[in-house]
Amino acid sequence: MNYFAGIDVGSLSTDVVILDERDEILGYSIISTGANSTDAAEEGFGKALTAAGLGRGQVKGIVATGYGRVSVPFADRKLTEISCHSLGASKLFPDTGMVIDIGGQDSKVIRVGPEGKVLDFTMNDKCAAGTGRFLEVMAAKLRVSLEEMGDLSLRGGGEARISSVCTVFAESEVVSLVAKNHPKEEIIRGLHRAIVSRIWSMVQTVGVYGEVTMTGGVAKNKGVVAFMEDKLGKPIHVYHEPQIVGAFGAALFAQKENRM
Ligand SMILES: Nc1ncnc2c1ncn2[C@@H]1O[C@H](COP(=O)(O)OP(=O)(O)OP(=O)(O)O)[C@@H](O)[C@H]1O
Ligand SMILES: [Mg+2]
Repeated sequence: MNYFAGIDVGSLSTDVVILDERDEILGYSIISTGANSTDAAEEGFGKALTAAGLGRGQVKGIVATGYGRVSVPFADRKLTEISCHSLGASKLFPDTGMVIDIGGQDSKVIRVGPEGKVLDFTMNDKCAAGTGRFLEVMAAKLRVSLEEMGDLSLRGGGEARISSVCTVFAESEVVSLVAKNHPKEEIIRGLHRAIVSRIWSMVQTVGVYGEVTMTGGVAKNKGVVAFMEDKLGKPIHVYHEPQIVGAFGAALFAQKENRM
Protein backbone atom coordinates (compact mmCIF):
# COMPACT_ATOMS: atom_id res chain seq x y z
CA MET A 1 0.00 0.00 0.00
CA ASN A 2 1.21 3.53 -0.81
CA TYR A 3 0.59 6.52 1.45
CA PHE A 4 0.36 10.24 0.77
CA ALA A 5 0.25 13.45 2.79
CA GLY A 6 -1.42 16.80 2.37
CA ILE A 7 -0.21 19.69 4.52
CA ASP A 8 -2.25 22.90 4.72
CA VAL A 9 -0.31 25.61 6.51
CA GLY A 10 -2.95 28.26 7.18
CA SER A 11 -2.55 31.61 8.89
CA LEU A 12 -4.10 30.14 12.01
CA SER A 13 -4.10 26.36 11.84
CA THR A 14 -1.79 23.81 10.23
CA ASP A 15 -3.76 20.79 9.12
CA VAL A 16 -2.28 17.51 7.90
CA VAL A 17 -3.99 14.50 6.32
CA ILE A 18 -2.43 11.08 5.67
CA LEU A 19 -4.16 9.20 2.88
CA ASP A 20 -3.85 5.73 1.41
CA GLU A 21 -4.24 4.85 -2.26
CA ARG A 22 -7.93 4.00 -1.74
CA ASP A 23 -8.74 7.60 -0.67
CA GLU A 24 -9.04 6.52 2.96
CA ILE A 25 -7.97 9.08 5.59
CA LEU A 26 -5.72 7.11 7.97
CA GLY A 27 -4.83 9.94 10.30
CA TYR A 28 -4.90 13.71 10.57
CA SER A 29 -3.83 16.55 12.81
CA ILE A 30 -4.94 20.12 13.44
CA ILE A 31 -2.51 22.33 15.33
CA SER A 32 -2.01 26.05 15.69
CA THR A 33 0.45 27.47 13.12
CA GLY A 34 2.10 29.79 15.63
CA ALA A 35 5.13 31.88 14.75
CA ASN A 36 7.03 29.39 12.57
CA SER A 37 5.33 27.71 9.58
CA THR A 38 8.15 25.19 9.00
CA ASP A 39 8.04 24.02 12.61
CA ALA A 40 4.24 23.78 12.47
CA ALA A 41 4.39 21.70 9.28
CA GLU A 42 6.98 19.36 10.87
CA GLU A 43 4.99 18.96 14.07
CA GLY A 44 1.64 18.51 12.32
CA PHE A 45 3.13 15.95 9.92
CA GLY A 46 4.61 14.01 12.86
CA LYS A 47 1.29 14.00 14.71
CA ALA A 48 -0.71 12.88 11.69
CA LEU A 49 1.81 10.07 11.03
CA THR A 50 1.47 8.89 14.62
CA ALA A 51 -2.33 8.96 14.32
CA ALA A 52 -2.05 6.89 11.12
CA GLY A 53 0.47 4.51 12.71
CA LEU A 54 2.98 5.15 9.91
CA GLY A 55 6.58 6.26 9.63
CA ARG A 56 7.82 9.13 7.49
CA GLY A 57 9.58 6.80 5.06
CA GLN A 58 6.29 5.14 4.14
CA VAL A 59 4.87 8.36 2.65
CA LYS A 60 5.38 8.41 -1.10
CA GLY A 61 4.23 11.92 -1.98
CA ILE A 62 3.61 15.17 -0.11
CA VAL A 63 1.72 18.24 -1.35
CA ALA A 64 1.70 21.46 0.66
CA THR A 65 -0.95 24.16 0.40
CA GLY A 66 -2.16 27.20 2.31
CA TYR A 67 -0.71 30.57 3.03
CA GLY A 68 2.50 29.06 4.48
CA ARG A 69 3.05 26.39 1.82
CA VAL A 70 6.33 28.00 0.73
CA SER A 71 7.71 27.13 4.17
CA VAL A 72 7.35 23.36 3.80
CA PRO A 73 10.78 22.34 2.44
CA PHE A 74 9.99 18.60 2.47
CA ALA A 75 6.91 18.90 0.21
CA ASP A 76 7.25 17.52 -3.32
CA ARG A 77 4.85 20.10 -4.68
CA LYS A 78 2.99 23.24 -3.62
CA LEU A 79 -0.52 24.05 -4.76
CA THR A 80 -3.02 26.82 -4.00
CA GLU A 81 -5.72 26.44 -1.38
CA ILE A 82 -8.30 27.13 -4.07
CA SER A 83 -7.39 23.92 -5.94
CA CYS A 84 -7.03 21.85 -2.77
CA HIS A 85 -10.29 22.91 -1.11
CA SER A 86 -12.13 22.30 -4.39
CA LEU A 87 -10.77 18.82 -4.88
CA GLY A 88 -11.19 17.89 -1.20
CA ALA A 89 -14.77 19.15 -1.01
CA SER A 90 -15.81 17.52 -4.25
CA LYS A 91 -14.37 14.16 -3.17
CA LEU A 92 -16.31 14.33 0.11
CA PHE A 93 -19.51 15.67 -1.47
CA PRO A 94 -19.43 14.78 -5.18
CA ASP A 95 -22.25 17.14 -6.22
CA THR A 96 -20.44 20.18 -4.86
CA GLY A 97 -20.79 23.10 -7.27
CA MET A 98 -19.63 25.77 -4.86
CA VAL A 99 -17.14 25.84 -1.99
CA ILE A 100 -17.17 28.52 0.67
CA ASP A 101 -13.92 28.42 2.67
CA ILE A 102 -13.79 30.78 5.61
CA GLY A 103 -10.45 30.64 7.39
CA GLY A 104 -8.76 32.78 9.97
CA GLN A 105 -7.35 35.37 7.62
CA ASP A 106 -9.20 35.14 4.35
CA SER A 107 -12.35 33.80 2.78
CA LYS A 108 -12.89 32.29 -0.63
CA VAL A 109 -15.90 31.40 -2.71
CA ILE A 110 -15.11 28.88 -5.45
CA ARG A 111 -17.21 27.62 -8.32
CA VAL A 112 -16.36 23.96 -8.73
CA GLY A 113 -16.85 21.79 -11.81
CA PRO A 114 -16.80 18.04 -12.24
CA GLU A 115 -14.08 16.22 -10.31
CA GLY A 116 -13.23 19.26 -8.26
CA LYS A 117 -12.02 21.40 -11.14
CA VAL A 118 -11.88 25.13 -10.32
CA LEU A 119 -14.08 27.11 -12.73
CA ASP A 120 -14.08 30.48 -11.02
CA PHE A 121 -13.39 32.00 -7.63
CA THR A 122 -13.31 35.17 -5.62
CA MET A 123 -11.25 35.86 -2.53
CA ASN A 124 -11.19 38.37 0.30
CA ASP A 125 -7.81 38.72 1.94
CA LYS A 126 -7.80 42.48 2.36
CA CYS A 127 -10.20 42.91 5.23
CA ALA A 128 -10.83 40.98 8.47
CA ALA A 129 -14.61 41.38 8.23
CA GLY A 130 -15.90 38.24 6.53
CA THR A 131 -13.12 36.06 7.99
CA GLY A 132 -12.69 34.00 11.14
CA ARG A 133 -10.60 36.82 12.57
CA PHE A 134 -13.76 38.93 12.84
CA LEU A 135 -15.39 36.28 15.04
CA GLU A 136 -12.23 35.80 17.11
CA VAL A 137 -12.06 39.53 17.91
CA MET A 138 -15.75 39.59 18.87
CA ALA A 139 -15.59 36.38 20.92
CA ALA A 140 -12.74 37.87 22.95
CA LYS A 141 -14.70 41.07 23.46
CA LEU A 142 -17.78 39.13 24.59
CA ARG A 143 -15.70 36.70 26.68
CA VAL A 144 -17.18 33.65 25.01
CA SER A 145 -15.25 30.84 23.33
CA LEU A 146 -15.37 30.33 19.55
CA GLU A 147 -16.77 26.86 20.26
CA GLU A 148 -19.84 28.18 22.08
CA MET A 149 -20.64 31.07 19.72
CA GLY A 150 -22.63 28.95 17.28
CA ASP A 151 -24.87 27.34 19.89
CA LEU A 152 -25.42 30.62 21.73
CA SER A 153 -26.59 32.38 18.58
CA LEU A 154 -29.07 29.62 17.79
CA ARG A 155 -30.82 30.11 21.12
CA GLY A 156 -33.88 31.93 19.76
CA GLY A 157 -34.70 35.49 20.76
CA GLY A 158 -34.03 38.71 18.93
CA GLU A 159 -31.01 40.00 17.10
CA ALA A 160 -28.80 43.02 17.64
CA ARG A 161 -28.15 45.14 14.60
CA ILE A 162 -24.49 45.53 13.74
CA SER A 163 -24.32 48.17 11.03
CA SER A 164 -20.56 48.56 10.49
CA VAL A 165 -18.88 46.43 7.88
CA CYS A 166 -15.47 47.17 9.35
CA THR A 167 -14.16 44.92 12.17
CA VAL A 168 -12.82 47.83 14.19
CA PHE A 169 -16.09 49.79 14.04
CA ALA A 170 -18.18 46.66 14.61
CA GLU A 171 -16.09 46.03 17.71
CA SER A 172 -17.03 49.48 19.05
CA GLU A 173 -20.68 48.67 18.37
CA VAL A 174 -20.31 45.47 20.37
CA VAL A 175 -18.73 47.40 23.25
CA SER A 176 -21.63 49.81 23.31
CA LEU A 177 -24.23 46.99 23.10
CA VAL A 178 -22.50 45.24 26.03
CA ALA A 179 -22.56 48.52 27.96
CA LYS A 180 -26.33 48.66 27.44
CA ASN A 181 -26.64 45.09 28.75
CA HIS A 182 -27.83 43.74 25.45
CA PRO A 183 -28.08 39.91 25.64
CA LYS A 184 -24.93 38.19 24.35
CA GLU A 185 -26.96 35.76 22.25
CA GLU A 186 -28.54 38.64 20.31
CA ILE A 187 -25.21 40.37 19.77
CA ILE A 188 -23.72 37.13 18.46
CA ARG A 189 -26.67 36.65 16.11
CA GLY A 190 -26.06 40.14 14.78
CA LEU A 191 -22.37 39.35 14.30
CA HIS A 192 -23.15 36.15 12.43
CA ARG A 193 -25.58 38.05 10.23
CA ALA A 194 -22.82 40.59 9.52
CA ILE A 195 -20.21 38.00 8.51
CA VAL A 196 -22.73 36.12 6.36
CA SER A 197 -23.70 39.28 4.50
CA ARG A 198 -20.01 39.91 3.73
CA ILE A 199 -19.64 36.41 2.33
CA TRP A 200 -22.97 36.69 0.53
CA SER A 201 -21.69 39.48 -1.67
CA MET A 202 -18.83 37.17 -2.71
CA VAL A 203 -21.30 34.35 -3.38
CA GLN A 204 -23.24 36.65 -5.69
CA THR A 205 -20.09 37.56 -7.60
CA VAL A 206 -19.47 33.91 -8.42
CA GLY A 207 -23.13 32.79 -8.65
CA VAL A 208 -24.65 29.75 -6.96
CA TYR A 209 -24.17 26.47 -8.82
CA GLY A 210 -25.05 23.01 -7.58
CA GLU A 211 -24.66 21.92 -4.00
CA VAL A 212 -22.76 24.08 -1.55
CA THR A 213 -19.98 22.83 0.75
CA MET A 214 -18.44 24.93 3.50
CA THR A 215 -14.81 24.35 4.54
CA GLY A 216 -12.39 26.03 6.94
CA GLY A 217 -12.70 26.58 10.67
CA VAL A 218 -15.69 28.92 10.54
CA ALA A 219 -17.79 26.05 9.14
CA LYS A 220 -17.61 24.69 12.72
CA ASN A 221 -19.81 27.59 13.77
CA LYS A 222 -23.39 26.30 13.46
CA GLY A 223 -24.80 29.82 13.65
CA VAL A 224 -22.87 31.03 10.59
CA VAL A 225 -23.80 27.87 8.66
CA ALA A 226 -27.49 28.26 9.57
CA PHE A 227 -27.59 31.92 8.46
CA MET A 228 -25.82 31.02 5.22
CA GLU A 229 -28.29 28.19 4.58
CA ASP A 230 -31.10 30.68 5.13
CA LYS A 231 -29.64 33.03 2.53
CA LEU A 232 -29.05 30.24 0.02
CA GLY A 233 -32.41 28.62 0.68
CA LYS A 234 -30.76 25.20 0.73
CA PRO A 235 -28.70 23.01 3.02
CA ILE A 236 -24.91 23.22 3.13
CA HIS A 237 -22.55 20.23 3.38
CA VAL A 238 -20.06 20.44 6.22
CA TYR A 239 -17.53 17.64 6.80
CA HIS A 240 -17.14 16.73 10.47
CA GLU A 241 -13.65 18.26 10.44
CA PRO A 242 -14.04 21.16 7.98
CA GLN A 243 -10.52 22.44 8.73
CA ILE A 244 -8.85 19.42 7.09
CA VAL A 245 -10.64 19.59 3.73
CA GLY A 246 -7.80 21.59 2.12
CA ALA A 247 -5.17 19.14 3.45
CA PHE A 248 -7.33 16.25 2.22
CA GLY A 249 -7.42 17.83 -1.26
CA ALA A 250 -3.63 18.30 -1.15
CA ALA A 251 -3.17 14.62 -0.23
CA LEU A 252 -5.45 13.64 -3.12
CA PHE A 253 -3.23 15.66 -5.49
CA ALA A 254 -0.15 13.88 -4.08
CA GLN A 255 -1.85 10.55 -4.70
CA LYS A 256 -2.96 11.50 -8.24
CA GLU A 257 0.58 12.47 -9.23
CA ASN A 258 2.07 9.24 -8.01
CA ARG A 259 -0.48 7.24 -9.95
CA MET A 260 0.66 8.66 -13.27
N1 LIG B 1 -14.23 25.07 17.27
C1 LIG B 1 -14.51 26.14 16.55
N2 LIG B 1 -15.76 26.66 16.55
C2 LIG B 1 -16.05 27.74 15.82
N3 LIG B 1 -15.18 28.39 15.05
C3 LIG B 1 -13.93 27.93 15.00
C4 LIG B 1 -13.53 26.78 15.73
N4 LIG B 1 -12.22 26.54 15.48
C5 LIG B 1 -11.84 27.50 14.62
N5 LIG B 1 -12.86 28.34 14.34
C6 LIG B 1 -12.82 29.49 13.41
O1 LIG B 1 -12.00 29.12 12.34
C7 LIG B 1 -11.05 30.13 12.04
C8 LIG B 1 -9.77 29.46 11.56
O2 LIG B 1 -10.06 28.67 10.45
P1 LIG B 1 -8.95 27.81 9.72
O3 LIG B 1 -8.24 26.95 10.70
O4 LIG B 1 -9.61 27.15 8.57
O5 LIG B 1 -7.99 28.98 9.25
P2 LIG B 1 -6.65 28.93 8.41
O6 LIG B 1 -6.76 27.91 7.33
O7 LIG B 1 -5.49 28.83 9.34
O8 LIG B 1 -6.67 30.39 7.82
P3 LIG B 1 -6.51 30.92 6.30
O9 LIG B 1 -7.10 29.88 5.40
O10 LIG B 1 -7.27 32.20 6.30
O11 LIG B 1 -5.03 31.12 6.12
C9 LIG B 1 -10.91 30.92 13.31
O12 LIG B 1 -10.65 32.27 13.01
C10 LIG B 1 -12.25 30.76 13.99
O13 LIG B 1 -13.12 31.82 13.66
MG1 LIG C 1 -7.21 27.83 5.32
